[in-house]
Amino acid sequence: MKNSPIKAAITGVAGYLPDYILSNVELEKMVDTNDEWIKSRTGISERRILKGEGLGTSDLATPAVQKLLEKTNTAPTEIDLLICATVTPDHLFPATSNIICDKLGITNIMSFDISAACSGFIFALQTARMYVEAGYYKKVVVVGADKMSSIVDYTDRSTCILFGDAAGAVLIEPSSNEFGIIDVITRTDGSGREFLVQKSGGSVSPSTEKTVANKEHYIYQEGKNVFKFAVTRMADVSAEILEKNNVSSDEIAWLVPHQANIRIIEATAKRMELSMDKVMLNIQKYGNTTAATIPLCLWEWENQLKKGDKLVLTAFGGGFTWGAILLDWAY
Ligand code: UT7
Repeated sequence: MKNSPIKAAITGVAGYLPDYILSNVELEKMVDTNDEWIKSRTGISERRILKGEGLGTSDLATPAVQKLLEKTNTAPTEIDLLICATVTPDHLFPATSNIICDKLGITNIMSFDISAACSGFIFALQTARMYVEAGYYKKVVVVGADKMSSIVDYTDRSTCILFGDAAGAVLIEPSSNEFGIIDVITRTDGSGREFLVQKSGGSVSPSTEKTVANKEHYIYQEGKNVFKFAVTRMADVSAEILEKNNVSSDEIAWLVPHQANIRIIEATAKRMELSMDKVMLNIQKYGNTTAATIPLCLWEWENQLKKGDKLVLTAFGGGFTWGAILLDWAY
């Protein structure tokens, strides 16, 4: 919020990765692909999959939030708001955020889901920030979680190699120092909706035997088109947030990009004039975990982050949606 006396900051981060590792070698046995193609075209070597009957996105998100509460010494009763970013909710309704709260003993607060695909974490963080800066809430949990394996067609080689399951969560509070979120840019362009979509199961095309037979409940992606938009929009918005705030690339300690394709990440770093050693990159281990990629990076790099480090978080995803966040790491 402009001119707010309160600055919102990330004050803790945690994540959850399911145990099962789906490697490129295993995918070679499932579809006509090979390790070399996947690595060179996407940067991915393996991804995690949540196995087990009856388990959904809340089973990824709940342990991530649980760990976050433990490490930040926060009681469930202290949480004022919980936002879950996901495109693979446990159910179309009720919201997965409600289920996570119930599983953790968080009651009588507002909780809701945000659907912004791979930009979900950016959109949710911006929302959380505004509640904190407006003075409404003091402790807000944002969790990005997706069980992508629930909507992946494992006979489609163009998509099944890309996605994995995971969750990452952050705590947002009023900053106790001068550091925190500096600026956010969030954008959407619904005309891109046809290029990356789950065609059926919603109100426009409810589930029928025909929609199941036609595989319309799986991810449909026109990869080349999405790539073209992603590579320009993510780079543009990351450069724009630096210019807008008169921040030079030398001042950036880390770029934290959504992990969809290493080539998109490299193009963004190049546009920002950043060397790749300043870029958080774990796509090789986890693939594209949609709303979880950015908090997973923060979690993995947490020990290397120093108070006052300037970070740019950026994403592009289905919708289309995209955005960037400039912040000073606050602890
Ligand atoms: O997360 C948010 C949004 N999502 C993205 O940002 C994803 C954006 N798109 C991409 O990352 C890339 O477009 C993909 C990784 C999905 C595909 O890479 P590409 O370099 O754009 O490949 P392509 O779709 O143009 O396919 C090139 C060739 C095709 O063969 P022909 O027509 O040249 O003979 C494909 O059939 O590669 C073939 N191909 C494969 N070959 C081996 C496609 N998938 C595979 C595969 N293994 N898994």
